Amino acid sequence: MNTSIDQLKSAFEASFGRKAAGVVRAPGRVNLIGEHTDYNDGFVLPIAIERQTVAAWSVGEGEAIRFRSAQAPGEDAEVDLSADIQPGGPKWANYCRGVAAGLRAHGLVLTGCDVMFASDVPIGGGLSSSASLEVATAMALIAAAAATAPESRSKITPRELALICQKAEHDFAGAPCGIMDQSIAILGQPGRALLLDCRSGETRQIPFGDPNLVLLVADTEVKHAISDGGYAARRDQCYGAAARLAVPALRDADGPRIEQAAAAGLLAGKELMRARHVVGEIERVGQAVEALSAGDYPAFGRLMYGSHESLRDDYEVSCDELDAIVELARPTGGVYGARMTGGGFGGCAIVLVQADPAAAIAETIAAGFASRFGRRCPIFATRAAQGASVVE
Ligand code: GLA
Repeated sequence: MNTSIDQLKSAFEASFGRKAAGVVRAPGRVNLIGEHTDYNDGFVLPIAIERQTVAAWSVGEGEAIRFRSAQAPGEDAEVDLSADIQPGGPKWANYCRGVAAGLRAHGLVLTGCDVMFASDVPIGGGLSSSASLEVATAMALIAAAAATAPESRSKITPRELALICQKAEHDFAGAPCGIMDQSIAILGQPGRALLLDCRSGETRQIPFGDPNLVLLVADTEVKHAISDGGYAARRDQCYGAAARLAVPALRDADGPRIEQAAAAGLLAGKELMRARHVVGEIERVGQAVEALSAGDYPAFGRLMYGSHESLRDDYEVSCDELDAIVELARPTGGVYGARMTGGGFGGCAIVLVQADPAAAIAETIAAGFASRFGRRCPIFATRAAQGASVVE
């Protein structure tokens, strides 16, 4: 964390003129495989990463929640608890407003409080900075409510909390995301990847803590936003394809069914391409879990490349910078696999590598990227980290 917990607490005190009563945190994520499957009721396999949003909080005196962020100095937000909670300015705080509104709608009695955030999850970098902000907000507001009225100690399940945070993103930030990012920010475990069935909400923790493995995260620094339109267009094409196939969601289709529909002229063009990706990707998640459980990293790596190619060619959400990282990684010794991660259109790629040559591999990729684009891509290594928690 660039900003330490102590720095955050000092900044809180300097800003609000009182000491923080508690500190909570929620991580960002990368998805190992299972991209653009969550809103098709499919499976995903993300890990929480060692980047996080931390929130210091204290119960206040009035009927308001004051949100401040070290990442947005001078852009303070205030939510009046005596009125309906609506979207407003500044933009970053809409995630927080949405979470407050959702917790209230769920029955939590919100208490006036002050909350200050600091984060080292790059904003718009495809590592779920927004989900980590939403979940950190929820953790802080729940802690403040419990401090005021212990009997209000929240009875919200992880699934309900993920849905509240997702709804905040839909309704207050205009980003029609799926359920993956919020779920992993809540449910992540050290040394585990989360296999999530996005239809039922069922989860399985899959070991991902082999000390001989390192996951590199390479940031193209090409910014994307889920509210930009490309994401919603993909989602709508998937829903259109499911309707043509007469299935509730693409989760319920399979390869042969799609090819039959294509041969019959029922499914064509972009909808056909999107459906091929989603159905293939859901299959790859199952195979990837088997490969991981067997310690067969070369097989896992091949599935990563398959996922990337499908996202690039059929789903059309990659970009030159992401493709370049994958192509730089592929021939390098010690690399098992690489792919873009997250929504795409920029953001980050992940590279699964052997631990010993990890630093040299990162250097090869960053240098190759620089010779192509005139700047290095920042690369960091991460392990699977803990989901949201109370720090103190
Ligand atoms: C974004 C969304 C997720 C998911 C991914 C693509 O990160 O927030 O819900 O759809 O894109 O897998």
